Amino acid sequence: RSHSIAVLPGDGVGPEVTSAALAVLDAAQERHGFTTTRTDVPLGAEHYLATGELLEDEAVEQLRGHDAILFGAIGSPAVAPGILERGIILALRGAMRQAINLRPVRLYPGVPTPISGLTPERCDLVIVRENTEGAYVAQGSTVHRGTPAQVAVQESVNTWYAVERAVDFAFRLASERRGRLTLCHKTNVLVEAGRLWTAVMEEVGSRFPDVETDYVHVDAMCMHLPVSPERFDVVVTDNLFGDIVTDLGAVLQGGLGVAASGNLNLDGAAPSMFEPIHGSAPDIAGRGWANPAGACLSLAMMLGHLGEGEAAAAVESATAAVLGELPALAGAGMGASTQELGDRVAALVREG
Ligand code: NAI
Ligand code: MG
Repeated sequence: RSHSIAVLPGDGVGPEVTSAALAVLDAAQERHGFTTTRTDVPLGAEHYLATGELLEDEAVEQLRGHDAILFGAIGSPAVAPGILERGIILALRGAMRQAINLRPVRLYPGVPTPISGLTPERCDLVIVRENTEGAYVAQGSTVHRGTPAQVAVQESVNTWYAVERAVDFAFRLASERRGRLTLCHKTNVLVEAGRLWTAVMEEVGSRFPDVETDYVHVDAMCMHLPVSPERFDVVVTDNLFGDIVTDLGAVLQGGLGVAASGNLNLDGAAPSMFEPIHGSAPDIAGRGWANPAGACLSLAMMLGHLGEGEAAAAVESATAAVLGELPALAGAGMGASTQELGDRVAALVREG
């Protein structure tokens, strides 16, 4: 079995955690008997500053031909905020029609969480975030700009098509897990979008009689998630709410350095993309202080997506084992560098 992978290390700690994850991929290939071809794609701040290019059509075409994309992080203090993030990351998710942002929220044994009393048994859920629309369509208008009469309208677009795609995916996932799906929204205030999401939940739900459903307002979710995460199995939500509650989910897991994500294309016409949820962390870049766990767990998700289930499980459990023994989750206190931690995970994967 061979898989073609586009590797986008990006900026700051992106290349550091990606290099650690690639060492783990080497080990997984040796141990589990598959191969990969890897194309390095130099998108990011350096490339932008040298060429003025963000995500060009040629890069899109090049990426489209791969089975998956492994992404680090993008963003640099040398470039105005938003240019690279919108011009590359959001553009990529759009160009590759990555309909879903999948965010497992799992606390591994031994990992310090700021939520007192939280145990791994109580924290194992997956958040399915609609990844293409809602408030993130960036549509709206402003009148009387710069005056006290200024009015800004920011629209949220919700189509049956995209919501059904996300909800259907979430039901399938729930039926393979513990059979429980929660819709997270704000249907009592955002009534137009809320009605559509509720109606889609009902219609799709009729095809999954074995999945139990419930509903939680997004504000209440911010209370339930840290206090009683065990009540959730799969949570489905819109783009904006998903962005917010998945960061809260990362806190439960031990922080940004630990959390992984997948941007999933569901139509097969373009690759899915896997990335740690953190950014380029310019404050610690170049010091070997970034935790590679989020990148390694994203690699595990990618392997699962490519059909390498055994390798995926091995990478996840090796990462969890290394993570559970760290004295601190970031910085000098980790007691080992980013690459050394990647090498430790790789060694465990090789041992099997
Ligand atoms: P950030 O995630 O880069 O950093 C936030 C804090 O978490 C920092 O203190 C950082 O040191 C720490 N941190 C991040 N990753 C870590 C890791 N692996 N191990 C240990 N500690 C870690 O977010 P920030 O500072 O808001 O943004 C920095 C740049 O990254 C900006 O340009 C931002 O736009 C971009 N960004 C890019 C993302 C992406 O590529 N998908 C996602 C989020 C931000
Ligand atoms: Mg976010």
